Amino acid sequence: MPYYLQVLFNVPKGLKLPPGPPRRFLVGNLKDLPRHKEWETYDQWRKNFGDLVYLNIFGKSLLFLNSPKLVSEVFDTRGAIYSERFQSTMLSDLGGFNWSLALMQPNEIWRQHRSILQKHLSKISMVQHQVTLGKCSKTLLALLYREPLGFLKHTRHLIGAMVLESTYGLSIKTENDPYIEVGEKALELFADISTPGAYLVDIFPFMKYVPAWFPGAAFKQKASELNFYFTTMKNTPFAAVKAALKAGNASPSFVSNLLEIENFEKDSFSQNRETGEELIKSISGVIYLAGIDTVEATIQVFFIAMILYPDVQKAAQEELEKVVGLNSLPTFKDRPNLPYINALCKEVLRWHPITPAGFPHMLKQDDVIGKYFVPKGTLVMGNTWSLLHSEEVYGSDVHVFNPARFLKEGIKDPDIAFGYGRRSVELITGADEAIPMSYHSENACSHSSSGAINQLRSLKTGVLIFNVKAAQYLDVKDYDNHKHLFVH
Ligand code: HEM
Repeated sequence: MPYYLQVLFNVPKGLKLPPGPPRRFLVGNLKDLPRHKEWETYDQWRKNFGDLVYLNIFGKSLLFLNSPKLVSEVFDTRGAIYSERFQSTMLSDLGGFNWSLALMQPNEIWRQHRSILQKHLSKISMVQHQVTLGKCSKTLLALLYREPLGFLKHTRHLIGAMVLESTYGLSIKTENDPYIEVGEKALELFADISTPGAYLVDIFPFMKYVPAWFPGAAFKQKASELNFYFTTMKNTPFAAVKAALKAGNASPSFVSNLLEIENFEKDSFSQNRETGEELIKSISGVIYLAGIDTVEATIQVFFIAMILYPDVQKAAQEELEKVVGLNSLPTFKDRPNLPYINALCKEVLRWHPITPAGFPHMLKQDDVIGKYFVPKGTLVMGNTWSLLHSEEVYGSDVHVFNPARFLKEGIKDPDIAFGYGRRSVELITGADEAIPMSYHSENACSHSSSGAINQLRSLKTGVLIFNVKAAQYLDVKDYDNHKHLFVH
């Protein structure tokens, strides 16, 4: 019997599955899954089917939530059953990535990892982090000055350096750095493996028992490569911090702070030194993995917006000149006095969220939403892109990059760009009232803003050429060819 028919048979009397694109025999909606500009398809489904859209792929249910009310009802009110994660055979069983809190089920260990991250990111490293940020931003300026067209490469380097320095206190080589290279390779494999439907073993887990030499088992080679890079990424920088601590020359960092906590073994999160160290390795490995790509992609959106919307760039520059003056670079202290720059940071997250449908949460048990039945194991996604482009919420110009919308009273912050309910990253970093933006938002926004700030400042200090050339890069030669990548 086709797998999706099994789901249909389980629907209780008087209820039905939510609406969605028609399913085909055996494969269900496999062919409907978009491979490119997926947010456009998700938005079209919203228009065609309404607030709930249901798909079924080989018996696996997928549900998209398209209204703010539903998102809050499901992920917040019913968060106890909507916070599980799908266990990917490729990533967890074969790739050995089960140490990552991002893939853990919401159990005691997951809570422990999140609470350590929250406690130690938001309290200990804030000042250190800002110093590192300031340093990295200056390096970025210098690199851009030397090689304006390399702005994508330089951004990647800056973020890698910032994350590795904050997390491990490691200084990174400007080029061909081995830590950055390992991280990049791991991220590349991770992105490939997490593409929905990319590996059949995730749909048919029994395939993991097929021997590696068997025709069609190339996925095993991929998984062992992933395993190698993830393990190296987790262990190598950690070992470097330990060695530096022993030699007495470790720079302060997230990891060195944790390792130096007195009586670490007796701390509530660790039974003994070995488990404690494993814990620190896993948590810092997650920062390394989750912190680089996300922040980098956000900054790239910022660059694109600045190139496409010179008037916004001009307005931001004027604010900086007025508030900070011409003789110094802005610092975090200036931030409360920079409303337009702060609004610009929010608009970067809203205009092009880097995860247009968030990251799937898995439903723990059968549930009912209105008149619809939602089966246990359904992968549930907030339609982030559509929600952040709602004309009702953000006005009729939602496709335009317009920071000024956030200067109006009562406009909803784009916090769903950081995820939903109990899994949201904003929660990890504790929306501590003393710190207006959490560490996470600092990463997202102050990177954008320090990027913005530095870029805009650089106009006054002679790096105007960067903006002109960067615009040429996208604009003069083949702007139209690239436009589809980021303009909707
Ligand atoms: C602009 C920057 C970032 C954006 C837009 C972003 C976005 C997201 C999103 C959408 C999720 C999925 C949440 C969910 O399941 O609902 C997520 C998960 C996660 N992010 Fe980020 N992120 C960013 C930066 C970072 C940084 C710098 C860190 C490092 C501390 C980080 C650590 C994590 C972790 C650990 C998770 C998994 C949380 C869990 O499953 O409980 N993220 N992020």
